[in-house]
Amino acid sequence: MSLTERLGLAALRCLDPETAHGLSLLALRTGLAPIPELFMGQRLATKLAGMQLLNPIGLAAGYDKNATVTEPLSRAGFGFIEVGAATPLPQPGNPKPRLFRLAEDRAAINRFGFNNDGMEVIATRLAARKPGILPVPVGLNLGANKTSDNRAADFARVLARCGPHVDFATVNVSSPNTEKLRDLQGPAALTALLAGVMETRAALATPIPIFLKIAPDLTDDDLAQIAEVALASGLHGIIATNTTLNRDGLKSRHKGEQGGLSGAPLFERSTRVLARLSQLTGGTLPLIGVGGISTPEQAYAKIRAGASAVQLYTAMVYEGLSVAARIAQGLDDLLVRDGFASVTAATGTGRSDWL
Ligand code: FNR
Repeated sequence: MSLTERLGLAALRCLDPETAHGLSLLALRTGLAPIPELFMGQRLATKLAGMQLLNPIGLAAGYDKNATVTEPLSRAGFGFIEVGAATPLPQPGNPKPRLFRLAEDRAAINRFGFNNDGMEVIATRLAARKPGILPVPVGLNLGANKTSDNRAADFARVLARCGPHVDFATVNVSSPNTEKLRDLQGPAALTALLAGVMETRAALATPIPIFLKIAPDLTDDDLAQIAEVALASGLHGIIATNTTLNRDGLKSRHKGEQGGLSGAPLFERSTRVLARLSQLTGGTLPLIGVGGISTPEQAYAKIRAGASAVQLYTAMVYEGLSVAARIAQGLDDLLVRDGFASVTAATGTGRSDWL
């Protein structure tokens, strides 16, 4: 980490977390944030649902909710970026405070509740994107409005409007901060929702890959049903996982806050879900591992548990933007150490450790 980044992080930590988040976006937009160098290498280059990635380390949804900093982020070391969640109508989200740092636990709790500018503004912003210097796919996390009378249809609406301007889209039925949203993970509701989304995708001039993002708080039976529905629906991958409602073993004073917990305490739980999904889908569906990654070893563990690529968010709060490039470089070293010629060759090779 550079001295500038270290000082910047220390300054941001003195502010309340949502203000710090806003300032980090502003610093990126205005070119004030130091941009780390992308780490590339032939072992790290990989394909995810047909998309070519320079490396398998992605930025998870929720950081660039309104797609305002895709260009600097695409130069910051990530192999792919997910923006959003975007909902059909703009909405303010839950009352503040709604983001908490749990420093002792290297974690965060958020209950933002899909605050975003809405699909019209976000689609216009995404359409105005200039092609980046580097080929870094940008995807959109699809959400539903809190007050919508047909939440399932919201996902397809956002896809229809924004789909032409992104490289992939994610059906997010796993945020804990919109009441009853996670009920859409049940088999009947999910089948119907995905049918609508896949129909909308087929109508796009260029049909893009569609991922499903699931919660970490699902039973084995839930996961088996989700895997079955995912395979039957023709989805292109599953992102495992979103934040958890579990609070085991936390030390920080904010541990009692409502919302989704992310960061270090989520690592094991989300990796177990990932490994289980890998087993259930027999490695036939690309999986993206997310939850608690802050080191190369953890990214590698997710890949060995069954992930074709990974994402992270909370580690950036504690380690800065350069974490992506550091993890990419360390991951390359681990692949060399263990004699893997590519990320794909390592995918799933350690699944049984997690089952
Ligand atoms: C998130 N996450 C999230 N996920 C999603 O699918 N849509 C969203 O809008 C958001 N918003 C969001 C906001 C904040 C403040 C956080 C911390 C997280 C979840 C995120 O994408 C990821 O799945 C989890 O945070 C777990 O990964 P990390 O943070 O442990 O690396």
